[in-house]
Amino acid sequence: MFESYNVPENLRPSDPRFGCGPSLIPTSFVASLLETGQEFLGTSHRKPAVKNVVKEVQEGLANFFQLDDDYEVVLGNGGATFLFDMIGLGAVNKKAGHFTCGEFSEKWYKSSAAIPWIEAEQFSVDYGKGIEGEDKSDCDLIAVTLNETSTGVQLAGIPKIDNETLLCVDATSGGGQCPIDVNSTDMFFLSPQKIFASEGGLFINIMSKKARERVLKIEGDKSRYVPPIMNWKTAITNSEKNQTYNTPALATLFFLNEQVKLMNKEGYASIQKQAREKADLIYGWAEKCEYLSPYITESSHRSVAVATIDVDDKVDVGGLLKRLADQKAVYNIDSYRKLGRNQFRIGMFHNIKREDLEKLTQILSGAIESTL
Ligand SMILES: Cc1ncc(COP(=O)(O)O)c(C=O)c1O
Repeated sequence: MFESYNVPENLRPSDPRFGCGPSLIPTSFVASLLETGQEFLGTSHRKPAVKNVVKEVQEGLANFFQLDDDYEVVLGNGGATFLFDMIGLGAVNKKAGHFTCGEFSEKWYKSSAAIPWIEAEQFSVDYGKGIEGEDKSDCDLIAVTLNETSTGVQLAGIPKIDNETLLCVDATSGGGQCPIDVNSTDMFFLSPQKIFASEGGLFINIMSKKARERVLKIEGDKSRYVPPIMNWKTAITNSEKNQTYNTPALATLFFLNEQVKLMNKEGYASIQKQAREKADLIYGWAEKCEYLSPYITESSHRSVAVATIDVDDKVDVGGLLKRLADQKAVYNIDSYRKLGRNQFRIGMFHNIKREDLEKLTQILSGAIESTL
């Protein structure tokens, strides 16, 4: 259907990477890393060259999210999936309430449910729908997902919880541009390979005082086994010294720091506004074209970071995306693999330019309309 389609030269985006993570890392970051020559890569993470970068990341994120003084930015290896287990093992007193709406939020629930000495309850909606969390009197930890990357659903608000409960937010792919006040959460965790334009493998967990007190109390209960790699006290005390517990990937820290600096130049409010504008562009286009429709029907839950756009079954999306990738014009906008829909899933992360998204819509429409 699309074998002979050619992307018009004037529509070529400045960067073909529109994926939802791993995301576009600006080539200028790679050039800056190269410039560090013999001074950074190959250095111990206990030495100033690396600790200073970690410190800049921690301070930069605190500034970006305008964190209250009693928050700490805790870093460690393993990414968000690692934190799923670390939270279940070391942050839940008795019971976690998980609000789920897709693959990642379910995965987090399953991590908690697999731990025999805590309980976990799932509150779910069908894929394609959004869900807000709410306080549950028998749960001491509430787990919500800021941006469900598999379906393109974002939170439309966050629950009010009592003093005995922790509100934990998986902000892996939404943190930084989906609207939320981080100061009203207890744990807000990100992976750098999304909006923060770096490589994977690291977690960044922004923790309130209440959350730190909880995990340190559980750590004091020696009857509960927590693997040393998941020890919260170690993670927190090392982060206070601008270190991770074990050896991190230095390029990941470097790129992350570049992105935090870049985002701080613009500020959280401006970045949220730009995200809103890009989302309006993509959803507006999908609503206008009769062969497209936004997968998420509740507009308040349509993500400003990941747009999922259903495509008429007559269109061979797989064939189209292959042709565009063969021409090095557009990469990685396939539907989340397990969702299995005839769909585009388009990253609108901060480094993906609005002009490029506009060109993307024109390429996709041009290609599809050439076959109708
Ligand atoms: C919402 C969400 N949570 C968790 C993860 C897992 O992140 P990681 O690969 O850093 O473990 C992802 C990855 O895409 C995600 O999108």
